[in-house]
Amino acid sequence: LLSMRFRRTRRDGEPPLIKGWIPFLGKALEFAKNAHGFLASYKKKHGDVFTVLIAGKYITFIMNPLLYPYVIKHGKQLDFHEFSDQVAPMTFGYPPVRSGKFPGMCEHIQKSFRLLQGENLDRLTESMMGNLMLVFQQDYLSGGSQWRTESMYQFCNSVMFEATFLTMYGKPAHTNRHSGMVTLREDLVKFDNMFPLLIARIPIFFLRGTKAIRDKLINYFHPKKMSSWSNTSGFIKERAALFEQYDCLGDIDKAAHHFAILWASVGNTVPATFWAMYYLVIHPEALAVVREEIHSVLRVSGIEADLNKDIFLTREQLDRLLYLESSINESLRLSSASMNIRVAQEDFSLRLERERSIKVRKGDIISLYPQSMHMDPEIYENPEVYKFDRYIEDGKEKTDFYKDGQRLKYYRMPFGSGSTKCPGRYFAMNEIKQFLSLLLLYFDMEVVEGQTACTQDPSRAGLGILLPATDVKIRYRLRRE
Ligand code: HEM
Repeated sequence: LLSMRFRRTRRDGEPPLIKGWIPFLGKALEFAKNAHGFLASYKKKHGDVFTVLIAGKYITFIMNPLLYPYVIKHGKQLDFHEFSDQVAPMTFGYPPVRSGKFPGMCEHIQKSFRLLQGENLDRLTESMMGNLMLVFQQDYLSGGSQWRTESMYQFCNSVMFEATFLTMYGKPAHTNRHSGMVTLREDLVKFDNMFPLLIARIPIFFLRGTKAIRDKLINYFHPKKMSSWSNTSGFIKERAALFEQYDCLGDIDKAAHHFAILWASVGNTVPATFWAMYYLVIHPEALAVVREEIHSVLRVSGIEADLNKDIFLTREQLDRLLYLESSINESLRLSSASMNIRVAQEDFSLRLERERSIKVRKGDIISLYPQSMHMDPEIYENPEVYKFDRYIEDGKEKTDFYKDGQRLKYYRMPFGSGSTKCPGRYFAMNEIKQFLSLLLLYFDMEVVEGQTACTQDPSRAGLGILLPATDVKIRYRLRRE
């Protein structure tokens, strides 16, 4: 049966088929090395829609962003959640939610995501501000104004990880900070290194030591332990209460669900924060404009940044930081490489334009790869160049981008699309803004000379924000304004 599956030939009405010469892996190795270049070269040869065999799956790539709406809007024949519902439980170690054993749980989990948005975002943002201040104050703001050196990724990771953790899960009973944060963070990095393999459904038992690390990470969220924490977000509280309603969900299963949210909330945010900071630090002219914008928003609100007091930016003030927002969006454009996946539920014809449709087989994956759009010179002039104000026009957010003379509905997609769009995107944007605001208000920063430009590690291609290939040494000191 297996060999028949890989002997597939192209049928009438189907897109061009590319298989590679290793039956199971197909084109997986080439894809993993340089997904963007790989897809661009096939696009040149086969046009804007083609099917590739990657790690045993037939994936049809829709490369033209003008066609994205036809896939994103598509109804019952394309399932948005099938892929993640299969892969996430295996990766994070909880029982499949859709198995029938947990009636209603899927819907409730989806509903819990509203607690990351709307009015609830005000509370989360307020709490994040306090937690960021706490970590900055205790770890970085004491000790005079002499120059100090740090590794930039390490710095972003240690601040954002702990502040996000405290905001999501709350603080321990008798102190403000959890013990064991450094170990937890390091264990998550080890787990994260194996993440691409787990998502490719390599059984965890083959990945040396990974199961033990995951067990340790999961145990951190044991319900008994969590019940003593306070200031927990409404989001996590509601999920914990939901899990209590299912007798067949064990304590470790509940903990595994909470662990999955830890990964979701920092796995992309930390590298996104790194790139946002990195591009600003290596573009001092952009950094100066963004810093002045933060000062001016505080000034308009009648607050001068007093570096001897806690700094507090409200959600409303964060919303007004347009240059900061544009600079973050620009770094997301350059660093995100997520793949949007839908699974065909039956053999059918997918309409792509008025006069055009393609035949799709049951079980095939339809995929959008927004990095190709983000790097398209027709949409973004000099796409490899960082332009911090690319998303601003006439003092307002710029939202019109074109291809073939037509305005694009989708032009920036680091957070996915349609019904699987990241529910944490507003919170993520706010926390990155808060982090950078504090950074720019408190510190002078520069990259230590003699380092080569930072490049991207491609191993997470398809899975989210790319990591830097190496860390970057910076010098920083307290500003004396
Ligand atoms: C899903 C990106 C931050 C929670 C996703 C997806 C993407 C994404 C692309 C969709 C995956 C798919 O298509 O199936 C990002 C990026 C972030 C970020 C780039 C930071 C810059 C966050 C934060 C949280 C979060 C801070 C939580 C506090 C989630 C959850 C899902 C998700 C729970 C799964 C949604 C579902 O199952 O429908 N994220 N994310 N994310 N994200 Fe984020």
